[in-house]
Amino acid sequence: MIELRNVTFGYTDEPVLNDVSFIIPEGESRVIMGQSGSGKSTILKLLLGLYRVDSGEVLIDNEEITHLKESGLRRVRRKMGMVFQEGALFDSQTVGENVGFYLIEHSDNSIEQVEQRVREMLGYIGLEESIIDSLPDELSGGMQRRVAIARALLSTAPKIMLYDEPTTGLDPESTTKVLELMDKLTQKRNIATIVVTHQFLDALEISDKFILIDQGRVAFDGNLPELRDSTEPRVLKFLEPFRESLKALEEKGFS
Ligand SMILES: Nc1ncnc2c1ncn2[C@@H]1O[C@H](COP(=O)(O)OP(=O)(O)OP(=O)(O)O)[C@@H](O)[C@H]1O
Ligand SMILES: [Mg+2]
Repeated sequence: MIELRNVTFGYTDEPVLNDVSFIIPEGESRVIMGQSGSGKSTILKLLLGLYRVDSGEVLIDNEEITHLKESGLRRVRRKMGMVFQEGALFDSQTVGENVGFYLIEHSDNSIEQVEQRVREMLGYIGLEESIIDSLPDELSGGMQRRVAIARALLSTAPKIMLYDEPTTGLDPESTTKVLELMDKLTQKRNIATIVVTHQFLDALEISDKFILIDQGRVAFDGNLPELRDSTEPRVLKFLEPFRESLKALEEKGFS
């Protein structure tokens, strides 16, 4: 469903990604981890076709997208829902307008029909319908993040969901709710999912497969036991702060 083949890319002459390759089959999920500035968000931008690679190939649903024109890219983007790292909602629009944005702009649905679908979607993501007239500012960070997911879901019938730091800055309760929602989407709707996160412990709840990016290169691609037992120095360095938590999880029977 998603594949990068030997992708090299830089915003300037300085390469940000270097010979990056990975494959994510239909309906599977991956967590992309790595230090700040390692190139994680850049990978998502290349998948969305927001920038062109310097060399290599990007495949979305078996289609190579690096040579597509803007119209082709728009068509491919409709297969993808994206929850951005920040600024996910239009501040001056209500929750209803945010979530129904795409339907209002691009469908023949009447306002009543859009409102009905927005209400259903709010219910689906576990929010009170009464927030439909609230502004984003009036909601907690966790609620805003869920509204952003709702908007992505109503914009497209995504085969792919991309989340950039979906739980960063959220309290534990909101984090749990957002993680549950993401899990429900991946499981029930068979959506291929990429989650970029610094939060390794949250990552464990999202997927059992991980990609570690280190200075624009893939330092690791595999499952949790392989990650835990890896002797790759870049993996050891990344996992260092999480060793105690990993041990505690294993003692509780998590594998
Ligand atoms: N629009 C841009 N123009 C020029 N350089 C950029 C641009 N966006 C990102 N970069 C650079 O590319 C590198 C990778 O950035 P990227 O946003 O992909 O990192 P990241 O892994 O997502 O980091 P973080 O965890 O902090 O979000 C950084 O050195 C960054 O400064
Ligand atoms: Mg980022």
